[in-house]
Amino acid sequence: RPPRPCRACSSAMSKTPGGGEEEGQYHEVEYKGEKLRVKDGELLRSSLLRASLSPHNSLAQTINCRGLGTCGTCAVSIQGRVSPAEWTAMERARLNFPPYSNDNNSLLRLACQVRVQGDLKVTKFDKFWGQGKEETRDKKFTAPLGELEYILD
Ligand code: FES
Repeated sequence: RPPRPCRACSSAMSKTPGGGEEEGQYHEVEYKGEKLRVKDGELLRSSLLRASLSPHNSLAQTINCRGLGTCGTCAVSIQGRVSPAEWTAMERARLNFPPYSNDNNSLLRLACQVRVQGDLKVTKFDKFWGQGKEETRDKKFTAPLGELEYILD
């Protein structure tokens, strides 16, 4: 049976690392000048880490809560459809706590709390938590804990 195209974005048969084919719906995530193909429903933080593109800045690449939603260092600005569409309880708690405030939190989501549901444009801002105003384009990064980075997926 041929793959069914998605109305909102791309959908197709995909080659798996083992060379087989896997049916599923994929979306395009644009981040730091790269375009990633991400499976529908994948956690945004995990998809970025798997592509060696961290949602964390500088030391926060090592020092973070690994997706618990408590540290706030994976905060990014997202254009496009994610699930849930509104802040989770963890996001409400963390993004209303310093260094975030009503002045700088309205466009942010925690990458560890949202699942990709459509094509996205994701922006990371500077400073430790990503609370700055300048877009950061720091590139390639290898998650220090390997597969343990995804233990909460
Ligand atoms: S990784 Fe800590 S809040 Fe997302």
